[in-house]
Amino acid sequence: KNERTFIMVKPDGVQRGVVGDVLHRFERRGYKLVALKMIQAPKVLLESHYAEHKGKKFYEPLLTYIGSGPVVAMVWEGLNIVSVGRKMLGATDPAKSEPGTIRGDYGIVTGRNIVHGSDSETSAQREIDLWFRPDEINQWPHTA
Ligand code: CMP
Repeated sequence: KNERTFIMVKPDGVQRGVVGDVLHRFERRGYKLVALKMIQAPKVLLESHYAEHKGKKFYEPLLTYIGSGPVVAMVWEGLNIVSVGRKMLGATDPAKSEPGTIRGDYGIVTGRNIVHGSDSETSAQREIDLWFRPDEINQWPHTA
């Protein structure tokens, strides 16, 4: 099924120079990039984005971490991108993420796990609407 997902390189990923690799992995897999921006996310945006985690013990540290520098936010499109994208990212806990995945290749700490990816089509739609205006989503012919 053709889908869209929201992928974000977190501040630690940006600081460590992982942006190019993340882009390359999705491009070479055959996915289509339809939106991309670098943004220092305001706190209200992060509160909305992570609303489901409000009240958990990692919530405040999480907002501090994601707000600690610019992130690179993207929308990718293609066949089963939500689930395939999650596989490409690897498990949330880098100790459990397989080598060959983004987190499995770069991370060792859950609190600094490099990238975010939507966990369902419903959250993808919600997150895309949160981070991008409709006119920031591009239409172009993809031939990969
Ligand atoms: P993400 O996929 O962005 O969704 C929630 C984020 O919370 C997660 O990646 C981690 O960066 C962060 N986090 C920190 N501690 C935990 C935890 N114990 N369980 C789940 N997520 C955590």
